[in-house]
Amino acid sequence: MMNFHIMTLFPEMVMEGLNTSILGRAIQNGCIAIDTVNIRDYTLDKHKKVDDYPYGGGAGMLMQAQPVYDAYQSIRKRTSAKKVRTVYVTPQGAVFNQKMAVEFAKEEELIILCGHYEGIDERVLEEIVTDYVSIGDYVLTGGELPAMVMIDAIARMVPGVLSNEESGETESFSDYLLEYPQYSRPEEWNGKKVPEVLLSGHHKNIEKWRLEQSLIRTRERRPDLYEKYLANHRQV
Ligand code: ADE
Repeated sequence: MMNFHIMTLFPEMVMEGLNTSILGRAIQNGCIAIDTVNIRDYTLDKHKKVDDYPYGGGAGMLMQAQPVYDAYQSIRKRTSAKKVRTVYVTPQGAVFNQKMAVEFAKEEELIILCGHYEGIDERVLEEIVTDYVSIGDYVLTGGELPAMVMIDAIARMVPGVLSNEESGETESFSDYLLEYPQYSRPEEWNGKKVPEVLLSGHHKNIEKWRLEQSLIRTRERRPDLYEKYLANHRQV
C-alpha cells in the first residue's frame, strides 16, 4: 500500500487523470491511495492569492512560501511516517527514469509538489523538498502532468497494482532493451503477414526471434540504451 499526496493548485486535473484504468482499479483495491491538497486553501490572503512578484524583478509571478508550507504541514499532520520524501517536480531536477520509479515505489508515503507560474519561493523549497525531479528536458506550464507521469510509473511498481500477466512487461526496461514487435489476429492484415515463427508454436525459436528483434529495435531507435545493454552483457 502506497500513499501519494499531491500539493497542487489544480486538484481536479490530477484526480481525473489518475482515477481511470489500471490506477483506478489500484485505488479501488486499496493498493494505492491518492490524496490531493489544494494549496490555495491554505493562503492567508483575503483574496485567496498565492503568488506575487519576484524580488529583483523579472518575468512572471512566483508561488509564495506560506501557502505551500502550510499545505505541507497539513499533510505531515495526517501522516504517521517520520521521514516523508517530498518531490518538487521541476525542469531543474534529476531526470526521472525506471530505476527512480522502482526506488520511490518502496516508500509508504510520497509527497509531490506541483509548481506553477515562474516557480516557488526558494525558502520553502529549502524547508520541505528532499528530491528535485524533472520528467525530461522540455518546459511545461505546471507540475501536474509531471506528477501524474511519476505517479503512474511509480504505482505500477507497487506490489499488487499489476496482475501477474501485466507485470511481465516491467522487466524489459531494467535490462536496457526495448520490447519486440507484437501481433494479434488476423494472420494477414492489409497484405501484411504475421512473422511465420510466431505461428510455429516453437517456443525456443520464438524466444530467440524476440530477443533478436529487441536488439535490432534498440540499436536503431535507442543507440544509447543499446550501448548500455552491451556494456552490461560484456561484464557477465
Ligand atoms: N515543470 C515544468 N516542466 C517540467 C518538467 N519537464 N519536468 C518536471 N516538472 C516540470
